[in-house]
Amino acid sequence: MQTDTGFSDFSSQCISRVEQALEKQLPSTAIEPARLHEAMRYATFNGGKRVRPILVYASGLACQSAPERLDMAACAVELIHSYSLVHDDLPAMDNDDLRRGKPTCHRAYDEATAILVGDALQSLAFRLLAETQAELAADTRLQMVSLLATASGSRGMAGGQAMDIDAVDRDLSLPELEIMHIHKTGALIRASVQLGALAAGAGEQQLRLLRRYATAVGLAFQVQDDILDITGDTDTLGKTQGKDAAANKPTYPGLLGLDGARQKAQELLDEALDALVDFGAEADQLRHLARYVVQRVH
Ligand code: IPE
Ligand code: IPE
Ligand code: MG
Ligand code: MG
Ligand code: MG
Repeated sequence: MQTDTGFSDFSSQCISRVEQALEKQLPSTAIEPARLHEAMRYATFNGGKRVRPILVYASGLACQSAPERLDMAACAVELIHSYSLVHDDLPAMDNDDLRRGKPTCHRAYDEATAILVGDALQSLAFRLLAETQAELAADTRLQMVSLLATASGSRGMAGGQAMDIDAVDRDLSLPELEIMHIHKTGALIRASVQLGALAAGAGEQQLRLLRRYATAVGLAFQVQDDILDITGDTDTLGKTQGKDAAANKPTYPGLLGLDGARQKAQELLDEALDALVDFGAEADQLRHLARYVVQRVH
């Protein structure tokens, strides 16, 4: 992988790297239960932006890691993310029909399959971290497994999703909304950055700065997601526009107005960039990524 390229080349290289690794690691549709394996692939290979794997590679690069050490962490965060989207779209949760421009997993298959797809993608993520990255010492892999488990569980992403469901039809205060976003979306983004750094063998000082960067980027990501739910269009988003308001979900634009939410995203970008001041050019892809997160249109 070339590392001194612009962001668009860097992100394309990351995407092709993680997609090749996922292709290799996801069970073949020739293996039983074939329909489950087909649905797992359907949910994973469907045009996601791969922001979390790109964060793993960019964070590893900032800590001088070779990309070969980062592939399984990149796969693991994308598998957890894809599982979370499959479950997020279920009728019991956001009840969405469209994801990444295609029918949601439970629409293309059925609800039981979609639940199992989520379960199986999650298990695969942990297996890859535990077993497959032979370049990493066993204690590093154990640390990574533990970190991802905490980030995806009830004190992380799943907990944030519980807060989200609980918040429907309720007025949240700004701090409550922030706590919800930091968990449901921020936790996995923070984990992506930390996994890249751990695989790279980063020291505590680097990790501390990267955690600060990632906390800001993770929250900014969901602020922008909330903004796009209003300003985007269904074709570009690949998911139904206007769902938050229709489902009466508390959002940043709902609380702060669109301009206030944009201002918040900008402040978080500044905070993320500020966290990286002690890094040199090796953190440029992380800087580009932070800008992309608040400027993206889908
Ligand atoms: C959407 O995530 C769900 C959130 C956590 C906000 P992404 O915008 O990263 O979705 P894909 O992976 O690109 O489809
Ligand atoms: C999803 O948040 C967060 C997770 C899947 C953990 P949203 O419900 O806002 O995501 P979209 O808008 O459906 O992609
Ligand atoms: Mg949701
Ligand atoms: Mg949703
Ligand atoms: Mg959303």
